[in-house]
Amino acid sequence: MMLFSSANLNSSSIPEPTLSIFVLRIIPECQNGTMPEFSHAFSGLAAKSKLSHSELVRSVRFMIAAEYEAIQLYEQLAESTDNEAARKVLLDIAREEMEHVGEFRRLLSVLAPQDEPFYLHGVKETEETLAEIGVPVPLCSSSGCMK
Ligand SMILES: [Fe+2]
Repeated sequence: MMLFSSANLNSSSIPEPTLSIFVLRIIPECQNGTMPEFSHAFSGLAAKSKLSHSELVRSVRFMIAAEYEAIQLYEQLAESTDNEAARKVLLDIAREEMEHVGEFRRLLSVLAPQDEPFYLHGVKETEETLAEIGVPVPLCSSSGCMK
């Protein structure tokens, strides 16, 4: 997952929607406008106080968005090079990020089950729209999709 592209950003130079109050809350270094330092094992200390449940839920939602951002970045990079080795590795990593999306989405369903009816309603609305124009909708479960 990649949240920022360069070190020592000040808060005004971090592009939206990457800048998030939740990241600022979770990553203490971001509170003073600098990047977290990964040069030693103890640089990424946890937030000074524990997250509330709603802060955790919003943080997981943000992490899902960050995973999609990483997928976009890796696929865009793969499409931008003719180097076959780089393309293969980047697309493999992009698929791994999709697994991370699945992990975070499942965690979110456990942390915020009250949100599930909204997601299911959205799924149903899209399926109805697709049915109206004759687009087949595969049945999917955790074990795969059937056509
Ligand atoms: Fe990831």
